[in-house]
This record gives sequence, C-alpha cells and structure tokens, in this order.
Amino acid sequence: MPDQLNIAVFASGKGSNFKAILEAIKTGKIQNAQIVLVVSNNSDAGAIDLARENNIPALHINRKQFETDEDFNSTLTSSLEKHCVNFIALAGYMKKIDPTIVRAFKNRIVNIHPALLPKFGGSGMYGMRVHEAVIESKEKISGASVHIVDEEYDNGPVVLQATIPVEVNDTPSTLAARVLKVEHEIYPEAIRLFSEGRIIVDGRKIIITKIEVKELKDEFDSN
Ligand code: GRF
Repeated sequence: MPDQLNIAVFASGKGSNFKAILEAIKTGKIQNAQIVLVVSNNSDAGAIDLARENNIPALHINRKQFETDEDFNSTLTSSLEKHCVNFIALAGYMKKIDPTIVRAFKNRIVNIHPALLPKFGGSGMYGMRVHEAVIESKEKISGASVHIVDEEYDNGPVVLQATIPVEVNDTPSTLAARVLKVEHEIYPEAIRLFSEGRIIVDGRKIIITKIEVKELKDEFDSN
C-alpha cells in the first residue's frame, strides 16, 4: 500500500464535493485516505460547517487577513505541515493556489471542474458562467473533469472525466445540477485511484495503472 493520503480539502462554497469525498471514505469506498483539514477563504462556507460536524479541523484563512502574500502563504503552509497534509483536493475553491504551494505539492493537488476540459476552463470560467458558455456554444455534451492543478487555471492534465448530454431545454442551472451529480461520482473515484497509488503523471499524460505503481516497479525489478 502507498502512504495514506492525508487530504486537505479547499472549499469556498457549500461543499457538496467535499461531502461526496467524505462519504466515500466513511463507507470504505476509499480506504487509504483521510481528510485531515478543510481550508476555506469564506467563514460562511457550508464546507466549514460540514468539517465541524465531522470533527475535521477547519481553517478559515484568506489573503485579506495578512499584510503580504508571503505571510499568507507561510501561515497556510505551516497549517498544512502541522496536519501532515500530503494531498490537496480543491472542491469549489475560488482562489488561485500560490505557485510555491503548487510546487511543494507537485502532482498532488487536484481540482474538479464542471465541464469537459480543455474546453470551458481558464480564468473567469467558474460557477454558472461555465454552464452558460456550454449552452451558448450549443454543445451536445458536457460533463465534469478532475485534473491536476498546475500554475495556470484549469490547465493541468485531466485524470478523469464523465459526460452527460446537454438537453435542448436545459438552462444553466438544470445543466449544473446534472453535472454536479457526476462530479460527486468521479471526484471520489479519482481520489480512490490516487490513494491506491495507481496514478502516474508523466508530463501532460496521465496513466491509470491496474495495480499500485510501486508494485509494478517491484515486478520490473525482479525480472
Ligand atoms: C462545483 O461545481 C465544482 O465543479 C466547482 O465548484 C463547485 C463546487 O460545488 N469547482 P460544491 O461546493 O462542492 O457543492
């Protein structure tokens, strides 16, 4: 087994993806992971309440509380270290992750995006704007993407995607609701694959192995 994933979930909003991941851990669908910290820039976030209900430490932190970027990032980093975080799941987190943190957690930060990347991503593409753009473009298919976080918005390689049809009478909110359902399926699934050591990130290529990556290596070593 690889090292257990000690996950920090970063969330600004209601936290339904956080809840889906938490349920998958509680029910044993994900076995080698725990959520050790929830981080939010927003003190009203449902994600903070959910963390408290589940006795998960919650950190309310945002840039405005600090004089400099450095102070903000070092306080956040200290908290991640204190809770032995080795993996970060962004779940509706509305702030950009500082490059120092992206580099410190290289290929260990994932995000869920409510469209089929690389389309409908990037700066300004969040929330209902994404679904509005999908409908305006007359797409027949939308869906959700779990991707690795790098230093640009919605740019890192895609780990998992799921699709749904766009119906002729869909509004941004009906489409968002159906996309959210598939988000709740693929996000825990992607985290399960990471927790089982089955994701290899090779540049922009993601390889999902059938067994743990370390076991594969051992097999090669013994041949
Ligand atoms: C989701 O639609 C996700 O794709 C996007 O933000 C939303 C978060 O929703 N990044 P929730 O807070 O998990 O309910």
